[in-house]
Amino acid sequence: MFGRLDGWDLSKEDLTPHIPRVEEAHRRLLSGQGDIMDGGIPMIGWLKLPLELEEPHLLSIMESAKELSGSVDAFVSIGIGGSYLGIESTIASLTSRYYNQLPRERRNNRPEIYFLGNNLDPDYISDTLDILRGKKVAVHVISKSGTTLETAVAFRIMRKFLLDTKIVDLRPLVVVSTDRTKGKLRAMARELGLKTYEIPEDIGGRFSVLTDPLLFSIAMAGIDLVQFWQGFKKMAELTSGHTFWENMAMVHCLMRYMAFLKGKAIEVVGTNSTYLYPLIRWMEQLFPESEGHKGKGLWVSPSLYTEKLHANGQMVQEGVRNLIETFLILEEYETRVDIPFDEQNLDGLNFLLTGGTQEVGGINNKALEGVALAHYEGGVPNMTIRIPKRTPYWIGQFYFLMEKSVALSGYLLGHNPFIQPGVEAYKKNMYALLGKPGTEDRIQSLHRLKSSIEKIIV
Ligand code: PA5
Repeated sequence: MFGRLDGWDLSKEDLTPHIPRVEEAHRRLLSGQGDIMDGGIPMIGWLKLPLELEEPHLLSIMESAKELSGSVDAFVSIGIGGSYLGIESTIASLTSRYYNQLPRERRNNRPEIYFLGNNLDPDYISDTLDILRGKKVAVHVISKSGTTLETAVAFRIMRKFLLDTKIVDLRPLVVVSTDRTKGKLRAMARELGLKTYEIPEDIGGRFSVLTDPLLFSIAMAGIDLVQFWQGFKKMAELTSGHTFWENMAMVHCLMRYMAFLKGKAIEVVGTNSTYLYPLIRWMEQLFPESEGHKGKGLWVSPSLYTEKLHANGQMVQEGVRNLIETFLILEEYETRVDIPFDEQNLDGLNFLLTGGTQEVGGINNKALEGVALAHYEGGVPNMTIRIPKRTPYWIGQFYFLMEKSVALSGYLLGHNPFIQPGVEAYKKNMYALLGKPGTEDRIQSLHRLKSSIEKIIV
């Protein structure tokens, strides 16, 4: 479903003039042409990865993860951005909300799983160390560049943590994933003799969900990597044709591009499932980091419904009309929660039972239908992506579809979606402010900038 854009309807005919461009972009992507290079390398390894992987390889990663799982109480996956989000979103979408609190046997004998390196908040790090104290802990650090400060700081802290627990040999408990040859992490892994996984040079962080490093962390939660990969593979097949209306990656990409052309700035991505919400957090990285170049792109705003309807839902309904909305709908919940019959009916809810919607999932779905119609009437066009079930297969399909859509978006917007030069700006300032050798020039200009900023202090 896709609806009104500021008082006009977006019809198939509106899309028609743009279809040849998207089809051309698709041909160029598949043949490795266009603005897709990073450091002289075409960054489209993710595109063929689903077709190249083989089951025995995935089984061996699962086996390694199972072996490590058996010997530890907790597992810490360290990384940020593309070296973190896909792991958390996959595990969160496929396991229990209270995974870490479950008795071990209900986690299929898997360890508790924690994340570090995704921020520099000392309270968060300290809380995580507190919860790990007294447990046998394994660590997996992922950094393609091997230089990311957040990740490196967390890894140093975790090495000290392990050594403080009288562990003298880190090798059975620490896994390092980084570039095949380059970077400090690779050198450290060699020096310490640690087990390693490689991040292929032609796959960027946010496109790396199906690479060995992320798969290893995902497998620590006991997730079936073969099913996961089959989902990617199926979607790669489903989106391989060059005919627009038969290729959902092209359709998804053009819908969003049309919204951008019509002045939309924000894509609210709402879901009916607490478990799909982390996937939208993954989208929140994939799209803005790939599209947000040269004054362009759509911001992705994750929204869990119905929670957000009691918050920024007001803005979606009646605020600035610069929004589109995408519903990420889980079609089949795993459980049924019935509304109990209450003879006294003091809360007046018995109408739910007589009205035919006797369980919470049904009410949630009706609520979402109501939301879509209300927001549409309020001037927010929308589209829907349906995920039939929370299984590795369907989640794998979803990832590949989004990756392909955003890759095509780069061609339409006119820039390379596989680089993120804007991310360097904060890093340069942070390193200068931290006194890193070689940043002296930057610190001078930062001082000048700071003194030129007018402050309003109350
Ligand atoms: O998508 C990307 O390339 C980034 O989000 C990176 O994944 C993120 O910056 C982490 O980089 P690295 O793996 O080099 O530590």
